[in-house]
Amino acid sequence: MCEAFGYDNIIVSSGVDILQFMDDMHYPFRANVLFKEWLPLDQRAGAYLRIPSSGRPELLLDCTEDIWHTPPQQLPDGWDSPFEISEFTSTVALIEQLKTAMRPVYLGPDNPLELPATSCNPERLCQSIAFQRRFKTDYEHACIGRANALAAAAHLVARDTFLARGSELDIKLAYLGACGQAEVDMPYSIIAGLNEHAAVLHHYRLDTSPPDEHRSFLLDAGVSVFGYASDITRSWAFEQNSEYAELVARMDAKQLELCAAVRPGISGIDLHLSSHQKIAEVLVEFGLVNCSAEACVESDLTSYFYPHGIGHGLGVNVHELGGRLANAEGEEIPPPQQYPALRNTCPWEAGSVNTVEPGLYFIPSLLEKLRAAPQSADVVWPKVDSLQPYGGVRIEDNMLLTKDGEAINLTRQAFAAM
Ligand code: GLY
Ligand code: MN
Ligand code: MN
Repeated sequence: MCEAFGYDNIIVSSGVDILQFMDDMHYPFRANVLFKEWLPLDQRAGAYLRIPSSGRPELLLDCTEDIWHTPPQQLPDGWDSPFEISEFTSTVALIEQLKTAMRPVYLGPDNPLELPATSCNPERLCQSIAFQRRFKTDYEHACIGRANALAAAAHLVARDTFLARGSELDIKLAYLGACGQAEVDMPYSIIAGLNEHAAVLHHYRLDTSPPDEHRSFLLDAGVSVFGYASDITRSWAFEQNSEYAELVARMDAKQLELCAAVRPGISGIDLHLSSHQKIAEVLVEFGLVNCSAEACVESDLTSYFYPHGIGHGLGVNVHELGGRLANAEGEEIPPPQQYPALRNTCPWEAGSVNTVEPGLYFIPSLLEKLRAAPQSADVVWPKVDSLQPYGGVRIEDNMLLTKDGEAINLTRQAFAAM
C-alpha cells in the first residue's frame, strides 16, 4: 500500500492523552483504531508503528519516567515477534527518530512530525484502508467471537438483575462484574433502558433507583477483546405472559429470519428493505396498524417505529468505517433517500462481520410527528398507547461471513454455548 500511494513509511500513532478543558485531568484514553488493529495495545498512549514499504515494522514506545501512573500496558507474551521494538526515555527523542523516516505519511489524531496536511490522514489512503478493513482475518474473527462469548454471559446476569427488580445502574454494575471489564474499557457505553427508556436508542444516563414497576428491559452492551468489539442487544419482558413478551418473541423470530438471509454479496440496502417489511408485518400482526404490511412500507409508516439502520460493520470500531464504500478507490453507495441512517449500503462480503439489529420502538417525539402525519389514519392509537410504557424492542446479533462464505451467528452461538 505504501508504494501504491507513493510513501516509503506509514507511521501510525496509538494516540495521546488529551487534557480536559480548564483541568489537569485527561479524558479516558481511546486508542486510534488504525493502530489497534495492528496489535493488542489499546490502552497505551504514546506508541507508534512505523511500517516501511519493505522490511520489518517497528514499534516505538514512549517510556518517559512517570511516577504518577501505573506502568503502561505491555504487549501480551508472543506479540513482539512481528515488530522491531524500540523504547525511548523521552518523547522528544522518539519523535526525532520518527522524523528520520523517508517519504512518510502519518495516521493519527495529532501531527507531532509537523508534516504538511496532505501527509496527515490523507482521505484516499484512509478510504482504501477502511475498505480493506472490511475483510477480516481469522485472528480478528476469533477476537470478535470471544467478545461475544464474554458479553453473552454478562447479558444473562444483567437479565437476572432486571428480574430481581434492580435499577439501571444495578444492572450495569452486574454486567461489568460478569464480564470482568471496567466501563472505560467497554467498546461503547452500556445502554440499559427500563420501561419507557427502552425507546431511547442510546440510553446512557442510567437511573440509579429502580422504577416503581418493572415492565421491560433493553440492554445493548458489548465487550472488548484485544481492541475488538462485540455489539449485542437483547430485550426482556418482566411478565412472561404479557403482550410485550409476545412482541419480543415475534421480533426475535423476525430478526432470525433476517440473519438467515445473510450470505456473501447480499446488499446492505436489500437487507434493510427486508427488515422494514418484517417490522411492518409485526405492526399488522399486533394490531398496531389497520393497513397492510406493504402499505406500511410504501407510506414509510415503519420509519416512525424503526428509525435506524439494519446494521453496521463491526471490528475495532463498533461502527466500522467504510460501510458505504463500493471499492478501495473511495466510491460510495449512498443510502436510499428515506433511510438516511443506514450505515451499511455495500454488499456484505466474505470475511466481514456485521450486526443485524432490527428494532420496534414507541418513541414519544416520533409518535407525536406521526399523529400529525397523513399515515396517522392507519395507526390504531389505543394499541400504540398501551405498548408505549414498554419502550420498545431491539434484538442485535453479530454475523460473521467466513472466507468460505459460511454465515455464522457469533451471538446466537455464544448464547447457545452456555
Ligand atoms: N451499540 C450501538 C449500536 O448498536 O449501533
Ligand atoms: Mn450495533
Ligand atoms: Mn448495539
